[in-house]
Amino acid sequence: MLNLVLFGPPGAGKGTQANLLINRYNLIHLSTGDLLRNEIAAKTKLGLEAKSIMDKGNLVPDNVVIGMIAKKIDLNVDSNGFIFDGFPRTVAQAIALDNLLKEKKTSINIMLSLKVEDIELIKRLLKRGKDSGRSDDQDKNIITNRINEYNNKTAPLKEYYSEQNKLREIDGIGPVNNIALNINKVIENL
Ligand code: AP5
Repeated sequence: MLNLVLFGPPGAGKGTQANLLINRYNLIHLSTGDLLRNEIAAKTKLGLEAKSIMDKGNLVPDNVVIGMIAKKIDLNVDSNGFIFDGFPRTVAQAIALDNLLKEKKTSINIMLSLKVEDIELIKRLLKRGKDSGRSDDQDKNIITNRINEYNNKTAPLKEYYSEQNKLREIDGIGPVNNIALNINKVIENL
């Protein structure tokens, strides 16, 4: 199995790059943001609770997202592997993911961390907010809170994966295809 973590702040391009990788390597794309937005669209209890948290730009509780990911891994144990996009986002989530994969006798191969400065993140997300109407992309203060949540709770995960020699930093600025080429080089070298 090939199991990748696509990592980086909001707007770094995780979803964009994941969509290119799933076809190239025939992997299952697991985005906790997309799973949560599906729950919101279906107006489930979980979705209603998550919406108010997401609209403020805060992180949803660990047990909620870990439960969603555990279900999806169970449903796809025979796949070529997974791309985790927007998960894990806390050390507790990373430990839970390691344990879930260990149960399936597999593990994370690599964490690809996209590096993009804040000013570019804010520009990209405000633009998407206008084009797509995504509710947490509408307001600069909410986007800034998402970036703060990333810096405080998520960025420390780089150390978690670096200690396992699994962290690879990728420049996330420039044409999407150039970034994809750099990601492919890292994966081919595994
Ligand atoms: P989530 O859906 O994961 O959103 P995010 O991390 O804020 O990131 P985005 O999806 O906005 O950005 P991305 O890095 O995927 O970039 P993208 O490719 O889309 O999470 C939303 C919320 O859900 C969280 O705030 C939290 O509340 C909750 N949540 C989710 N997971 C959670 C978890 N594990 N634990 C707790 N809570 C969780 O690109 C962004 C834009 O930039 C697009 O318009 C794209 O076209 C453009 N773009 C991409 N690449 C480039 C490029 N190279 N140049 C120019 N533009 C580009």
